[in-house]
Amino acid sequence: YRASLLHFNDDPAFHQNAYSWHEDGLLIVNDGHVHVAGDYAQLVDFLPPGTPLHDYRGKLIVPGFIDTHVHYPQTDMIASPAPGLLPWLDKYTFPTERKFADPAHAAQVASFFLDELLRCGTTSAMVYCTVHPQSVDAFFGASEARNLRMVAGKVLMDRNCPEFLQDTPESGARDSEALIQKWHKRGRQLYAITPRFAPTSSEAQLELAGALAKAYPDTYLQTHVAENTDEVAWVKSLFPQARSYMDVYDRYGMLRPRSMYAHCIWLDDADRQRMSETGSAISICPTSNLFLGSGLFDFERADAARVPLSLATDVGGGTSFSMLQTMNEAYKVARMGGSYLPALRMFYLATLGGARAMQLDGTIGSFVPGAEADFIVLDPQATALLARRTERTENLEELLFAIAMLGDDRTVAATYAAGRPVHRRAN
Ligand code: GUN
Ligand code: FE
Repeated sequence: YRASLLHFNDDPAFHQNAYSWHEDGLLIVNDGHVHVAGDYAQLVDFLPPGTPLHDYRGKLIVPGFIDTHVHYPQTDMIASPAPGLLPWLDKYTFPTERKFADPAHAAQVASFFLDELLRCGTTSAMVYCTVHPQSVDAFFGASEARNLRMVAGKVLMDRNCPEFLQDTPESGARDSEALIQKWHKRGRQLYAITPRFAPTSSEAQLELAGALAKAYPDTYLQTHVAENTDEVAWVKSLFPQARSYMDVYDRYGMLRPRSMYAHCIWLDDADRQRMSETGSAISICPTSNLFLGSGLFDFERADAARVPLSLATDVGGGTSFSMLQTMNEAYKVARMGGSYLPALRMFYLATLGGARAMQLDGTIGSFVPGAEADFIVLDPQATALLARRTERTENLEELLFAIAMLGDDRTVAATYAAGRPVHRRAN
């Protein structure tokens, strides 16, 4: 694949030479994996005669985007109005998730959802299903059919939500364990133990979720934390013995490598310190946080504690499946908090940052030799305005910045998963 190539080997906020840029680059893919990425002129002679060469000159190839927090069952309720998180959950989320008791409905939404991700250039995600085990089977089935690397899990919730969506501590743990045995590491699929958030799990359920996380240390764990001030106050009243909201999860052994915490807006420095020392990661959800009025993520405090950061849409709380749109709003959130996010860092967060937060670097998120060949073709000429603006950019940072601010699904000309085309934009 001949194009301009960009990928990262480290976080540009902390390291010089954290990225590779080949203006006239060549990405050589063999058997679904990256063979090598570099300058066209240096590599072209190594191509065996007869190798098909895809010419994407004038476009950029970057690793497929990684969305580290998204709810596939909420696809049909994206952009539902409500004054804040808790009323939004009651009015839209829970009734929508109820429908996933029906496997046919779940399969149909999972298909639409994954095709939408691919249209937006997202090739991997950490995904919440619903409380219904069949919603997980539907999701992984659709992911397997497209050969995508996806992480997903059955939501655990046994209180403070409608009865039709409740499991029990025992049934939740039993169903999760069966799903781990069925799906974890089957092809490219990975399982995440998924307690929705502290308010909807009893202490018994959190206990069993923590035990499961310990019994299956190579699985993932995902949940929400410190998203909204009403939610934080509610957790304080439900768990008066805990030092903080994050401390609730810590007490049940849920801070560990491969644990992904969405939002992390109302944390304190002790919480961040615990995340850092336990190898837990943050999923930043700017479109959701602005839409629901949850708050502004503090990049400076998170970076001071060196917590691994990643970027996410959080659809249906988020308002777009596009990680470019998500970068746009992350940039503004940082500005409102007095921080500055360079475009290079935004692209890092949406690719290698996500992979590292998931401890999947070397597998996805970059073009190191042997990585799975998930990549996207970005077209700076996708729209008249983007073309006009990018023609006038003077360096890589300006070019990427314009793409992050003005780009969306239209900017993604093609998406490849494991070396195979899975989306091509119609012109
Ligand atoms: N907290 C608990 N459940 C949810 C959810 O579905 N979306 C968001 N944004 N926050 C939550
Ligand atoms: Fe969420």
